[in-house]
Amino acid sequence: MKKIVFVSVFLIWMAIGVSAQDSGAAFAVNHYAARNFISGALTAAELDTVLQAGISAPSARNRQPWHFTVVRNQALAKRIVPDVSDGNVLIIVSAAGDGRTNGAEILDCALAAQSIYLAAQAIGLGSRIYTGPIDAVNRNLKGDLGFPAGHSAVVLVRVGKVRTVDAASSASGRKAASALVTYK
Ligand SMILES: Cc1cc2nc3c(=O)[nH]c(=O)nc-3n(C[C@H](O)[C@H](O)[C@H](O)COP(=O)(O)O)c2cc1C
Repeated sequence: MKKIVFVSVFLIWMAIGVSAQDSGAAFAVNHYAARNFISGALTAAELDTVLQAGISAPSARNRQPWHFTVVRNQALAKRIVPDVSDGNVLIIVSAAGDGRTNGAEILDCALAAQSIYLAAQAIGLGSRIYTGPIDAVNRNLKGDLGFPAGHSAVVLVRVGKVRTVDAASSASGRKAASALVTYK
């Protein structure tokens, strides 16, 4: 009897481990820039999860140079990304500098943005990274957004509800690994 219980527990443990690896591998590949946002507010827990993902991102010398400005006000969000759906949140990642030439901080902020982007999709939300509006944000909206002194926006992530998270069919094509990877 003891043997049967042990074998069953072992098999369940193996199955959970293998399926977790499978879903992890699938998720690592199957993300996409959402274009199918729908109206709907994020819960506080969802917003907290994606922000924690940004806060937990790696940064050079762990300096964590970023600040996260969460734009929930729809009128303000529409001035930045005109086609936002009701309930979408824009998370603007800023750092000290002008947002263009402070290269080290830009790299760190980009990683934080990517962490937010992936975390949102991991919990069934849609997300899309934007740099197109950044110059206009820095020119016109710093005051309204209340960035920390000396900060400029680097990148923003739009997070919101989507009809379905269907990365396999929604992502655009990618170049072939054979054209991108060199093994030595
Ligand atoms: C650094 C960066 C900047 C981007 N800026 C914009 C943008 O300004 N506007 C936009 O609609 N999409 C923007 N995107 C989204 C890309 O167009 C999208 O990630 C890319 O086309 C791949 O999409 P897919 O993953 O759905 O295939 C940006 C993505 C990245 C990584």
